[in-house]
Amino acid sequence: MSTLSLTVADTALSLNINDRDNLLNQCLAAGLPVARSCRNGNCGRCDCQLEFGHVQLRNGQLVTAPATIALCVSHARSPIGLNQLPLASPPQHWRCQGLGPQQLQLPAGRQTPPNIGDKVALLFSATVTINSVAAVNGRVISLQDHCAHIASHIQNQDGIGLLNIDSEHHGNFVLWHSYKHCQTLLWPNINQSTGLAAQAAYRHGGSIGHYQLRAQPPTLSD
Ligand code: FES
Repeated sequence: MSTLSLTVADTALSLNINDRDNLLNQCLAAGLPVARSCRNGNCGRCDCQLEFGHVQLRNGQLVTAPATIALCVSHARSPIGLNQLPLASPPQHWRCQGLGPQQLQLPAGRQTPPNIGDKVALLFSATVTINSVAAVNGRVISLQDHCAHIASHIQNQDGIGLLNIDSEHHGNFVLWHSYKHCQTLLWPNINQSTGLAAQAAYRHGGSIGHYQLRAQPPTLSD
């Protein structure tokens, strides 16, 4: 059995993997919340883009990048790189408009609003702030804390992402945004699952640019 590596382009993820078990099982064993259902290559839930390397499918076929592969029936035959992982449960998030420094409005249409007391991250184009839901009245969400960033988004009529998060969202990862030659640190000190959820929420919101989750370098006090 050889030791190989699996990297995911838009995360700080690099796993040691073997050539014996399928990639889905190895991701799950590493605690990654990868989407799956049939586990026999039919449902497409674990499909990924293979960016480099090659894998062997359960039926013996060798596949070389670039290609779409189902993780559940793919076995590494070299170090491999994926573009991103399909998440098991899409993050609960909304694309809102700002109404005031403590108020957001959900888009029209049927959707379940967050619950009063939920901890939420406000995903702005250049930063992330933490808040909580103080009240919900129809489509209007009142926030616990004043947030100065909402005002500029009202002026520019930009949408604001709202993401439900756990109170335990701290960790050793950082979410960056890059667009052309500009890089912005969006959210430091988060754990991997929160970072993956925020990355997905930004993408679903149609934001331009590239969102990358990276491991945070240790500080001197670590
Ligand atoms: S779990 Fe269905 S294709 Fe992989």
